[in-house]
Amino acid sequence: PSPSLSDSTTQFCSAGSEYGGVSSTRILIKGGTVVNAHHQQLADVYVEDGIIVAVQPNIKVGDDEVTVLDATGKFVMPGGIDPHTHLAMEFMGTETIDDFFSGQAAALTGGTTMHIDFVIPVNGNLVAGFEAYENKSRNSCMDYGFHVAITKWDEGVSRDMEKLVKEKGINSFRFFLAYKGSLMVTDDLLLEGLKRCKSLGALAMVHAENGDAVFEGQKRMIELGITGPEGHALSRPPVLEGEATARAIRLARFVNTPLYVVHVMSVDAMDEIAKARKSGQKVIGEPVVSGLILDDHWLWDPDFTIASKYVMSPPIRPVGHGKALQDALSTGILQLVGTDHCTFNSTQKALGLDDFRKIPNGVNGLEERMHLIWDTMVGSGQISATDFVRITSTECARIFNIYPRKGAILAGSDADIIILNPNSSYVISSKSHHSRSDTNVYEGRKGKGKVEVTIAGGRIVWENEELKVVPGSGKYVGMPPFSYLFDGMEKSDANYLSSLRAPVNRVRTEAT
Ligand code: URP
Repeated sequence: PSPSLSDSTTQFCSAGSEYGGVSSTRILIKGGTVVNAHHQQLADVYVEDGIIVAVQPNIKVGDDEVTVLDATGKFVMPGGIDPHTHLAMEFMGTETIDDFFSGQAAALTGGTTMHIDFVIPVNGNLVAGFEAYENKSRNSCMDYGFHVAITKWDEGVSRDMEKLVKEKGINSFRFFLAYKGSLMVTDDLLLEGLKRCKSLGALAMVHAENGDAVFEGQKRMIELGITGPEGHALSRPPVLEGEATARAIRLARFVNTPLYVVHVMSVDAMDEIAKARKSGQKVIGEPVVSGLILDDHWLWDPDFTIASKYVMSPPIRPVGHGKALQDALSTGILQLVGTDHCTFNSTQKALGLDDFRKIPNGVNGLEERMHLIWDTMVGSGQISATDFVRITSTECARIFNIYPRKGAILAGSDADIIILNPNSSYVISSKSHHSRSDTNVYEGRKGKGKVEVTIAGGRIVWENEELKVVPGSGKYVGMPPFSYLFDGMEKSDANYLSSLRAPVNRVRTEAT
């Protein structure tokens, strides 16, 4: 697939024989509870050539060529959209074990039908990075989009940002405030980037940890003789995540542009987001499933292979943070759930056997996200099925401006659909998962509520525990700029300018 902006506007063309799933292009899902973010109802769903054609009770099609799926007693929902993945990413001297094909195949078995990956520039060059990711993603078996990281600043970067937005379907750029010496950017670069994002209608995203202080924390641990995986958590405590989150939020406020905070892992960061949202600022907070479900005791496990698989940044936090993040998600303080799927196998993790600073950062989650959120949050009554759809799919589609093509079971939407059986159980294991990794951070975890069928682009790709996908069948989804987060921005800029001329109006205009 060759990414271009036009891909974002055309409806999904017939998937034809590209998909390796069941060959029928007409599917009737009967008798299920159809769940959207705004509403749920008992209804049938009829799909033709990759597009949802009708959603209503008692659809009759009277045609032998239609594949009929019985969803009685089950939930029929939009496929998940994961806003945060790293497939085929070169990082910390190695490359993630999951590429676009294996990561996406795993995702489909867990009910995720689209993800947004991060393009890492080549020597700071955005277009070269984008082209490299076009190549990496040629073996895709499900729909995907890209964010692009900014790692240096000059006229060329500024120009390339415009080119990517206007010609390549990019509407978000990420700034790493951590990883000193590699991906990290300084405040002056962040400011330039925020201004440029605003002018292009692109969403600025931040990895919020204070990279200078993390560097100092790492030195401190080594001096204390702490070289094992626990040193990772101890060297970058929540206070450093809270500081960077607050700083990025304040700079975004100063520029008056929306901000998206990736992998919110601590109460410290979440509180900053809550405060900003309460004051009317447009800040989106994305927790990831590992931060919601796990706690950091694993990093002290005496078995390095076990402890090292939990190393990611920001670190998985002590007991209490995850539940607080769940509460924030259920009440709308945080908006959507990602995975930060960035898998390294045990051999790769062993690069840091003698020094936690060399353990490649990242955990799995693409296959597990939907199941774990359903079991933990819907299963416990914390959220409803409609909330589940909102935080795993619809809100992501809205933020990245592809709703209702994605993120909805509506006539005209792409036929990315899952059927979830709330009574079916599972046990997670690296022996049976679909990632290429030999470990799984959720090893042995049991849950209820299983995705029994996944339909991607109108094709049944997961049914009866069988995965039927073909490399190269996934489509790039270009994402247009100026999402709803930019609505009203011109007016608020005008208000700010007029407040400069009328000092009496300057009360509480914190952007000044
Ligand atoms: O540990 C992590 N999170 N690895 C992937 C890179 C990032 O920071 O998202």
